[in-house]
Amino acid sequence: MYAHHYWGLTVNGSSETIAIDDLTVEQADQELARLAAILGKANRDYHTADAPTLDDATFDALKRRSASIEVRFPALKRKDSLTDTVGAAPSDGFQKISHAQRMLSLGNAFTDEDVFEFDARIRKFLGFSDNDGLDYTAEPKIDGLSLSLRYENGELVQAATRGDGEVGENVTLNAKTIADIPHRIANAPTIFEVRGEVYMSTQDFAALNNRQLAAGAKPFANPRNAAAGSLRQLDSAITKSRPLRFFAYAWGEISTAFAQTQSGAMAQLKNFGFPINDLTKICKNPVDLVAHYQSIEERRSTLGYDIDGVVYKVDDLELQKRLGFRSTTPRWAIAHKFPAELAWTRLNDIEIQVGRTGALSPVARLAPVTVGGVVVSNATLHNEDYIAGRGGDGELIREGRDIRVGDWVQVYRAGDVIPKIKDVDISKRDANAAPFSFPAFCPECGSAAVREDGDAVRRCTGGLICPAQATERLKHFVGRAAFDIDGLGAKQVEQFYADGWITTPADIFTLKDRYSTGLQQLKNREGWGEKSADKLFSAIEDKRQISLRRLLFALGIRHVGDASAGLIAGHYSSWAALELALTSASIGEGAEWDELLSIDGVGAVMATSLILAFQNDAERASIDRLVAHLNVQDAVKIENVDSPVSGKVVVFTGTMDRMSRAEAKARAEALGAKVSGSISAKTDLLIAGPGAGSKATKAIGLGIKTIDEDEWLALIDGL
Ligand code: IVH
Repeated sequence: MYAHHYWGLTVNGSSETIAIDDLTVEQADQELARLAAILGKANRDYHTADAPTLDDATFDALKRRSASIEVRFPALKRKDSLTDTVGAAPSDGFQKISHAQRMLSLGNAFTDEDVFEFDARIRKFLGFSDNDGLDYTAEPKIDGLSLSLRYENGELVQAATRGDGEVGENVTLNAKTIADIPHRIANAPTIFEVRGEVYMSTQDFAALNNRQLAAGAKPFANPRNAAAGSLRQLDSAITKSRPLRFFAYAWGEISTAFAQTQSGAMAQLKNFGFPINDLTKICKNPVDLVAHYQSIEERRSTLGYDIDGVVYKVDDLELQKRLGFRSTTPRWAIAHKFPAELAWTRLNDIEIQVGRTGALSPVARLAPVTVGGVVVSNATLHNEDYIAGRGGDGELIREGRDIRVGDWVQVYRAGDVIPKIKDVDISKRDANAAPFSFPAFCPECGSAAVREDGDAVRRCTGGLICPAQATERLKHFVGRAAFDIDGLGAKQVEQFYADGWITTPADIFTLKDRYSTGLQQLKNREGWGEKSADKLFSAIEDKRQISLRRLLFALGIRHVGDASAGLIAGHYSSWAALELALTSASIGEGAEWDELLSIDGVGAVMATSLILAFQNDAERASIDRLVAHLNVQDAVKIENVDSPVSGKVVVFTGTMDRMSRAEAKARAEALGAKVSGSISAKTDLLIAGPGAGSKATKAIGLGIKTIDEDEWLALIDGL
């Protein structure tokens, strides 16, 4: 029999569970002791008696309750706390959910000029003249966290956080506690995903922090952190006790269209019972957009909730559809951000960190200072030129003022990014302060740190012998967009590396063979038990099957980010084809090189980096050892089966009259074609407009089918 009754907390004779937010310090202490006793016994029973006394779900629930209490009362954390044991991080408790449609982020505009360029880009893409009407909506950018609510037949069935945009966390129970979120909606499409922002008002935030302080708990840094921390609670009773709110501003999967315009959709969302922001306005041109931005900025401090900019969206949904998306952001929307907040503080030290590609990155250690509600004590200093007062092209920055240890510096935060340094006050400089001398040797392994021509960055030449590079590579390898192994995060990687258990990625996949039995068992190590060790081994096992995109990104090849890895994987489809191409390619010439460059988004720098990684003996040996343990899944091509161009390589040349080149390219890609910039033997189709030159001639020479714009439009008509 499992003992479910452990949920009760006996206080003053009552045995009901007290919400964590309502616990006094004494009650919390008592509750932590009680939970520790139950969990400890359950753990011993599980390991020694082979007769579990608690089922997994109850065990996990109690562990989560204990962890949540520790978050509220960090000082009460017990020595025997199970919270930090691997695989038990509180966020591990949420089920993962794949979004039916990706949750995207927004491109940024920082100046009025950026807004005019946004409008000009859209007009160009759509082939609109300056006189063609083009309406936008402008609305505040709420500083909270995004949430996707899925309604099926009018019933709220699922709520998910954004996560990495593709996979989020299931927070349905928690979302249901938010009063602004309807549980049922009438007359909505059968499948209806509403998206918006969860936030906390400034007033509620202040009251919550007062309660936190009164209870001896750590206050939240700002309303956004408080909202995020409250929504991502494993105990929904805590979420319920927190004053969360919601604004709807977008949607994901919908079974039927429910509006023709963005503004119409907002009105519909309001009808369905969702709060929408009443500062949303239709603007006719960029001048209106900027004017509305200014009026919102003027009211910013009186709104009662935090915003960090204004979001502009093309109003006509048909045009939104034509404009489509870049890899992670829509072409039809942009966030016009408010200027970052600034603060002066003392630069205590400059430290050098060594990254996975060997880059020596200077980091400013600052006297802690509050910037935009967050305490900042580190900032990036980019590279040695930046410290010396020179920009990327040798031009002067900060009028040439260099930065020295001990200086007073001005710090700013823009969004979620690492804080930066804007200026230095040399009038306050100590007479003895010396210019910073950037190291010529790696501080981690002592190898020479060299700066190649044209590279702003000095790099350690130690490669895998450099412990910093090796661990950073491993951390990248297990990261979220890479292998994403549950229970194997940065902390564990460092631990394993320090003990020599894992030095390269391949070692992860032999860990079980080496350490599951015998003297050096993982389960005997500090912080690990049988359960967590088993969990880790099975999480690793799961990842032997991996997508080509994730594998390629995980290799950490310089210049190859997640989006590029996706494009390259989509092009070659299989590991075998990719490996063959990169092994036989020569830098700067030949068919393989041309093919690499034909991939949209791959330039000479990335292509060179890929070839070097596959043709360097040590790198290659490490890759081969890894792949031997894997089953690499072919890239799933986003092909439209009904499209006559799906899987075909097409090239556009000459001018187009009825569609801009950018739109033609985006349409072709949406129909599953690969759009290339140059003609090769692999080209299937050339679309040539007036003025087509050498490409058309080359296509004739190679016998490639050539059509004009009208034939192209006829071919894709109605798709
Ligand atoms: S629209 C496809 N509208 O900003 C575009 N986003 O930086 C969907 N955000 O992830 C987003 N207020 O969490 C949109 N009025 C607003 C917003 C808003 C806040 C957030 C959202 C998004 C992030 C992008």
